[in-house]
Amino acid sequence: PESKLQLVQRHIRAFPDYPKKGILFRDICPILKDPAALTAVTDLFEEHVRKNHQQVDLIVGLDARGFLFGPLLAQRLGVGFVLVRKKGKLPGTTISVSYDLEYGKAEAEIQEDAVAPGQKVLIIDDLLATGGTLYAACELLGKQQADILGCMVVIELKEMNGIDKLKSHNVFSLVQY
Ligand code: PRP
Ligand code: HPA
Repeated sequence: PESKLQLVQRHIRAFPDYPKKGILFRDICPILKDPAALTAVTDLFEEHVRKNHQQVDLIVGLDARGFLFGPLLAQRLGVGFVLVRKKGKLPGTTISVSYDLEYGKAEAEIQEDAVAPGQKVLIIDDLLATGGTLYAACELLGKQQADILGCMVVIELKEMNGIDKLKSHNVFSLVQY
C-alpha cells in the first residue's frame, strides 16, 4: 500500500523555467486539489509536532502558501494561527523586515499584537529554497520575543542550502529534492 508520504510526493509537480529561466518550480497545487493528499500532509505535520513538541501555542504561516497548510494543522492541534504577510496587507501596527528571494526581493510583516513574548510558535510554509523567507519570519518573531520551536515545510530544495541560513532553528520537511 502507498504511504502517506508517497501520496504527498505523487502530488507535487515540477515546472522548468518558472517563473524565470533556470528555476525548476515545484508546484503543490495538486496536493490541494486532492483531499486525501491534503489530509496526508496535515497528518504528517501533526504526527511530527505531537512527537517532537510538548507544547505549542501558535502556528505561524507564511504568505501565501503557508496559509494553505497552517490553519489545517492549527485546527488539528487546537491552537491559533497567525499570518506573516507580504508588506502592506495587514492593518494596525505592524513590524516588518526585508529579505531576498530566489527570484526577487520582498518585505514580510506581522501584526505587533500577533504573538506575546514567550509564546511557543511553529512556523509553516510550503517550501524552503534559499531560506530567506523563513529567516525573515524568524527575525520578525524574534523581535516579538516568541519562543521559536521550529520551522516546517512541505518541500525542501536541498541544493539551495536554506537550512544553513536557519542554522539555529530546527527545520522539518516532508519531501526533499
Ligand atoms: C515562495 C515559497 C516560499 C519562498 C521560499 O514564495 O512559497 O514562501 O518562496 O523561498 P526562499 O526559501 O528562497 O525564501 P514566494 O515568495 O514566491 O511568494 P508567494 O507564496 O506569494 O507565491
Ligand atoms: N516552487 C515554489 N515556490 C518556490 C520555489 C519552487 O520551486 N522556489 C522558490 N519558491
